Amino acid sequence: MIKKEELVIQITIDGPAGAGKSTIAKKLADKLRFLYIDTGAMYRAITYTALQQGIPLDDEAALVKLTTSVNLDMVQQKEAKPKIYCNDLDLTLAIREPLVSRHVSQVAAHGLVRQELVKLQRKLAQKNNVVMDGRDAGTVVLPNADCKIFLTASLKERARRRCLELNAGGHRHTLEMVKADLARRDTYDQNRKASPLIPATDAVIIDTTFLTPAEVVQKILDLIKEKESD
Ligand code: DC
Repeated sequence: MIKKEELVIQITIDGPAGAGKSTIAKKLADKLRFLYIDTGAMYRAITYTALQQGIPLDDEAALVKLTTSVNLDMVQQKEAKPKIYCNDLDLTLAIREPLVSRHVSQVAAHGLVRQELVKLQRKLAQKNNVVMDGRDAGTVVLPNADCKIFLTASLKERARRRCLELNAGGHRHTLEMVKADLARRDTYDQNRKASPLIPATDAVIIDTTFLTPAEVVQKILDLIKEKESD
């Protein structure tokens, strides 16, 4: 059986942008009928709202005030990723805008903002079986998770995937632009003081460069089975 103190099952999927986390997490959550928690969407929602309200992104205290005063809500959808609401405002599409992508790492680097969002993430994972994706889900948010995955892929492949995704959504991005943005965000996320992007020591690392989403999901399901029979 999975070694676990609580009754809930927690699966974490961390890794750099474009490694396939959200696609895999959503598919896995659907298969297992677990709740999918997209923690990146929370950082994006705070970033979007701060930009809207003209809050300087280097003002940690103001960002914390914003984070604690808004009501962030994630609504699961059958065929698509969850919708995210901030004070009942649907930000699902807005948080994917390039402006938000460019600034979100700056907001996510504030330790006190992270503390508040981590509280919310833990609360959601306390009562539900979850698949949670992010950068620190296995290291900080749910250190006792039952199964921890760290997804990687080459920068070129991650940029290719992200470019397709963005352009399918109506944006016009070149591969070079997306590659530069991902590389910049990787460096920022890996080198920040607060919860840098690193695999948990007990995470299983999966390189998805040459794997289809279905193959990655199957690998994770096999890992879960292995753990169950331990
Ligand atoms: O996964 P994403 O691209 O939507 O994440 C957006 C940004 O938020 C990314 O630059 C890293 C940051 N992030 C984080 O620091 N911690 C998380 N748990 C999730 C995302």
